[in-house]
Formats: sequence, structure tokens, C-alpha cells
Amino acid sequence: MIEKIPPAVTLVEVCPRDGFQNVRTFIDTEYKKRIIRGLAASGITEIELTSFVSPKAIPQMADSAEIAAVFVDELAANCRTIALVPNLKGAQTAWDSGIRTVSYVISVSAAHNMANVRRTSEESLADLRRIKCALPDLKLRADLATAFGCPFEGAVPPGAVLRLMEKVLNCGVSEIVLCDTIGIADPVQVQALSKQARKMCGELPMALHLHDTRGMGLVNICAGIDGGISRFETSAGGLGGCPFAPGAAGNTATEDAVNMLHAIGADTGISLEALLKAVALIKQYIKPDLTSRMGNIGACEEA
Ligand code: COA
Ligand code: ZN
Repeated sequence: MIEKIPPAVTLVEVCPRDGFQNVRTFIDTEYKKRIIRGLAASGITEIELTSFVSPKAIPQMADSAEIAAVFVDELAANCRTIALVPNLKGAQTAWDSGIRTVSYVISVSAAHNMANVRRTSEESLADLRRIKCALPDLKLRADLATAFGCPFEGAVPPGAVLRLMEKVLNCGVSEIVLCDTIGIADPVQVQALSKQARKMCGELPMALHLHDTRGMGLVNICAGIDGGISRFETSAGGLGGCPFAPGAAGNTATEDAVNMLHAIGADTGISLEALLKAVALIKQYIKPDLTSRMGNIGACEEA
């Protein structure tokens, strides 16, 4: 199915942001720290630690400054630390907390942008320009939500994704993440859009963020690889989901992605055995019944 398997694939771990944000009861900050330490110990090289959002919108992220204060320095040698932000206020607080790379979230569909960040796309773009101006050294990735379908508007035309990509690139963004927020994408769609987006981005880093709501996470990763992408955002334990997207469920589990990628000969630099120890903590502290396959069966042998 995959024409050319890349020797290495990068997995960006988003459990501490995408995974935790969808857990209704507050997770003790000490538990979050233990899980993040466990994830980092597995060899992950990029991690979305938290988000700097309104605590009224996402109470789970109220400890973002504390999480950043601990991990920006602690992980500095081996792991890039990232935080999600929805506006200038979040970007400024992230910067003040030591974060140097943010994911700026903006949806391709107008209705989801309004539900998620309570603004029009134009307002989101205007704030992105303000961020670039106020914090020129902050590295900006754009998380383009609902790039493969919207819970409110249905199908999202590829042309709309590419137009928004062009606009965020003009605002000074240096990385693009295409997000299947509600896990509605199919592999043919993923391959086609990845190819088109890759062409537009040139050498710029690009990633896919593929929820597994309908069981297509892994096959969509393969389709993304076929479309020229070698960077994926995944979530340990398969936790994840946008609280402002009805029907959104778990992300593709990092341990399942690692298992598959190692099996097909693409290295991730992540130790599955060590990762499963972190997943065991997620089971213990947050959710005993995971959707992830490897999280439930454990590693038979190190891949
Ligand atoms: N961090 C912390 N607090 C923030 C904030 C941020 N980034 N942005 C705004 N606030 C605070 C304001 O200071 C204000 O506080 P107050 O009521 O004590 O005065 C309050 O939130 C409302 O501010 P306002 O600018 O009117 O925001 P809003 O109510 O229109 O909400 C967002 C807009 C973007 C802040 C909010 O919708 C949000 O945080 N969304 C995050 C969505 C998300 O994380 N989704 C999942 C990831 S994709
Ligand atoms: Zn997500």
C-alpha cells in the first residue's frame, strides 16, 4: 500500500494537551508530571505539554504555567516542548512561561472556529498577525482544525484548506498541522490532501493530526506517508478529543503508531517498552479502559 517507506517518522506526542483536555475531572498536576516524564523517557522528541487557553473554556488546562515551568527546562536537552494557544493572550503567557514553539489553533470551517475559539476566521488570522508582531521569536505552527470534515458543516473542500494554509503562511507560520479533529477522514482523502499540501508547503515541516474516532487512524497515517508526510501527532493511550466538536473521540494511540511504524521499517526513536510504562500510568491515574490496542495487550517484544 505504501509506495516508499521513509526510514524515520517523527511522532509528536499530544496526550498531555489533546488527551488531557478531554478528561472531565481534573487530573492531579503531580500525575500529569509523572505521565509526561514517562513519555519523555520513551524517547519522544516533541511533546505538546499543555495549552494556554481560558480556564473557563478548558478547566483541565488551568495548571499550564506550572507544567511549562517544570518541563521546558527539564526536557530541553532531548525534546522540543510545545503548547497550544488560541489567541495573543495565550501566546504571551506561553512565552512568559518559557515556551518557544506554539500551535496556534484555527479551524478551516467557520462554525467550528466559532464554537472552539469564539471568533471568526478573520479574527483568528488578525490575532495571529498580532502574535507574530508582538513575539517575533516565537515559533508558530498552525493547527488547521476540521481540515478533513466539520461536525457542524460536514464536508470541508480541500480548496478551503489550501487557501487557509496560504493565509497562515503569509502570517509567518513556519509549520503546518492538518487536523482531522473528528476522525472523519478516509485514506484516499488523506493521501490526496497530503500531496497537495506538501506541494504548497515545499520544505516547510508539515504534520497530520489524525483522530481514530472511526478506526481509521493507522491506515490514515499510512495514507499520509504515501502523500509525502513523515510527521504525525499521536496521543499515548489513544486519549484525545476537542470538547467543542460534538462526536470527537480519541486520537490515534502513539503506542499503536510506534508498533506499526517499527513493524514496517520506519524508525521513530521511541522505545515501545518504555512508552507502555507511561501508558500504564495513564491507565492507573486517568482511564483504565483504553481504546489503544498496544496499551491493552502490552508489548510482546520490543519492536
Ligand atoms: N488564557 C487564559 N485566559 C484567557 C485567555 C487565554 N489564552 N484568553 C482569554 N482569557 C480570559 C480573559 O482574560 C477573560 O477572563 P475574565 O472573564 O476573567 O475577564 C475570559 O477568558 C474571556 O475572554 P475573551 O477574550 O472574551 O474570550 P472568550 O470568552 O471569547 O473565549 C477563548 C475565547 C479563545 C479564550 C476561549 O474560547 C478558549 O480558550 N478556547 C480554547 C479552545 C480549546 O482549547 N479547544 C481545544 C483545543 S483545539
Ligand atoms: Zn486532536
